[in-house]
Amino acid sequence: MVRKKATSRASPPAGIGRFGAQVRPLYSASRVQARVRALGRQITRDYAGRTLTVVCVLKGAVLFLADLVRAIQLPVELEFIGVSSYGDATESSGEVRISTDVARPLAGKDVLLVEDMVDTGLTAAFLVQLLQARSPKSLAVCTLLEKPSRARTQVDIAYRGFVVDDVFVVGYGMDFKERWRNLPHLGVLR
Ligand code: IMP
Ligand code: MG
Repeated sequence: MVRKKATSRASPPAGIGRFGAQVRPLYSASRVQARVRALGRQITRDYAGRTLTVVCVLKGAVLFLADLVRAIQLPVELEFIGVSSYGDATESSGEVRISTDVARPLAGKDVLLVEDMVDTGLTAAFLVQLLQARSPKSLAVCTLLEKPSRARTQVDIAYRGFVVDDVFVVGYGMDFKERWRNLPHLGVLR
């Protein structure tokens, strides 16, 4: 049987065009992957012999979580917590509301809270206080990114991927108005 060879190059779906062209690269996908693997090794060493309950903050940390847990060589339980912050999309108001809560009790568990970004720190500080009240055996924060220049409250971060300047980062789970989450790298909107 003679199959017709596909000759035309696949054209991009309408409206997407050169996907990602509006985003200035910050950290390449391979750089992100290498950093996430290093964090996974560090967490594996620190929690050796224990079972870790990883609480992922929706939605921005989902891609980070997926790669991070595959780099952790320990028994891991996954939980998800959803937060929405009042106010506009790029500025934290500090008033945080839980939109989805974890499904299981955290009492007596070694809990690792996984965030995409600690910006003002208000969300992470709120979540730490909330989860601490559930009496975990231990609680630590792991964030892919931190913007220390914007900190408005002190958050004890045990694991951080990258420290960034005061720029708005998208990609690898992080959005601007729900866009760009599926970029495999981290970038800054042009
Ligand atoms: P914070 O409460 O100000 O620390 O930030 C809370 C949330 O705002 C983070 O978890 C992110 O979801 C979002 N955020 C802050 N900075 C950025 C950014 O540069 N890009 C995308 N989302 C961000
Ligand atoms: Mg977010």
